[in-house]
Amino acid sequence: MSTATENVFKTLAADHAGRATQKVAALFAEDGERFARFSASFEDMLLDYSKCSIAPQTLSLLLDLARAAGVEEKRAAMFAGVHINLTEDRAVLHTALRNRTATPFVVDGQDVRGDVATVLADMSAFAEGIRSGALKGATGKKITDVINIGIGGSDLGPVMATLALSPYHDGPRAHYVSNVDGAHLYDTIKPLDPATTLVIVASKTFTTQETMSNAASARHWIVEALGEAAVGHHFAAVSTALDKVAAFGIAPDRVFGFWDWVGGRYSVWSAIGLPVMIAVGPEDFGRFLDGGHAMDEHFRTAPLEANLPVLLGLVGIWHRDVCGYATRAVIPYDQHLARLPAYLQQLDMESNGKRVTLDGTPAAHDTGPVVWGEPGTNGQHAFFQLIHQGTSPIPVEFLIAANGHDEDALPGLKRQHAMLIANCLAQSEALMRGRTLEEAKAQLLAAGRDEASASKIAPHRVFPGNRPSVTLAYDRLDPYTLGRIIALYEHRVFVEGAIWNINSFDQWGVELGKELANTLLPAVESGQASADLSASAAGLLRHLTGK
Ligand code: F6P
Repeated sequence: MSTATENVFKTLAADHAGRATQKVAALFAEDGERFARFSASFEDMLLDYSKCSIAPQTLSLLLDLARAAGVEEKRAAMFAGVHINLTEDRAVLHTALRNRTATPFVVDGQDVRGDVATVLADMSAFAEGIRSGALKGATGKKITDVINIGIGGSDLGPVMATLALSPYHDGPRAHYVSNVDGAHLYDTIKPLDPATTLVIVASKTFTTQETMSNAASARHWIVEALGEAAVGHHFAAVSTALDKVAAFGIAPDRVFGFWDWVGGRYSVWSAIGLPVMIAVGPEDFGRFLDGGHAMDEHFRTAPLEANLPVLLGLVGIWHRDVCGYATRAVIPYDQHLARLPAYLQQLDMESNGKRVTLDGTPAAHDTGPVVWGEPGTNGQHAFFQLIHQGTSPIPVEFLIAANGHDEDALPGLKRQHAMLIANCLAQSEALMRGRTLEEAKAQLLAAGRDEASASKIAPHRVFPGNRPSVTLAYDRLDPYTLGRIIALYEHRVFVEGAIWNINSFDQWGVELGKELANTLLPAVESGQASADLSASAAGLLRHLTGK
């Protein structure tokens, strides 16, 4: 990390220490412009970070930090197709997948727009064929169910997006199988009819153990019911490893490719999005791409102080490295975003869960926080207790739409959306304001408690307050907005990784466990522990295999 960057970090630490007892609620009282000063918008999307302990000088220091760390130069390098994924010697150009404009997108000297457009057109034709019934199963029946078999980036993005876009879902039912636990596949296929089911095998590498074993079992299921010749009608594949797909026996016109410059966790925009496209149709999938592209343009061109991904990234750095918060909660007050936290766990933690910088030396500051969450209001009745009154502050990121879908379908639904908004705003307000001992005691006395019991109970009803949150508000979760939200988070991860000077685009940390699982499988099957196993692993193996 450069000396200039370190110096800004030091000044930020001093700013934080100097304002240790300052209450954010008081900052609002002092500054009538605080909301305007610490919020930013893009189209109908508003990012409010005014409830964080950021003062005007903090913001300008954070912007200095972004400049000192070279965020603008690194951003330009990514969009220019430079091999910023150094350890894998790859460009990082998922942004090219959603750029359907006339601007050339060059990777290694080649404009990739043609290839991207060709795959998108092939996907659209296939999706339309399945949706309309023109492409049928082996017995001539229409496809009613699609099972996507994939894991990690070949699963989480499509799962999240399919649920997010359920009001637009008018194609066959979508099912997702990821876990190597055979129960996942078996529970999924049990109620389905093989004659009306399409299986998509989605794997960038086409070697992932979980996906390949689930695909083999699904193949048995199809072949047993419909015969070997049915495989051609009931399978499709998405991969960058076209040779390996051919070996599996999937017909070439049902194979949809993508490229090594698309990271797994950034691949929902590629052919990996095929099950989403089949569910909602190519037009809505196109709107999703357009939303992503609109956010790319905003990230690429807006000044840092008005740039949503930059601001969200800087707030993340403030909380992680200056305030020292180890986790952040993502709480969508939007049931359709129920899988967003799981999706962001891979996006954020696989990208920025790194301990060395680009030159291989240990990171000077804490990198990626633990990302977790569940939809509101459910979380309020589960873990919000700890967020309000636990001993460690947890920054919360709320997401909320001004409008839901189908609100006229039942008399109470509109009011329920108003309740959703009220709850979301109430939580961020309560986290910031808190409740003092005096207020707690006064409330108890007003409710008829005597002095002794009010004094005894009051400490339990104190909320420290000053707990940070940001809120992302948007008009409605349509495909375009989903695209903007996902691209916003992708670029936020980029900004944080750029400041930490780490490689956000490799994932070597997943390798060791994979290697050991491969060496352990024969031991599990035979019940014979090899000599190099620890006593713990050997003991567990004996217990589990009964040998
Ligand atoms: O486990 C890590 C990982 O490589 C992820 O990065 C990736 O999204 C996932 O596995 C699945 O990989 P593939 O698409 O190659 O099957």
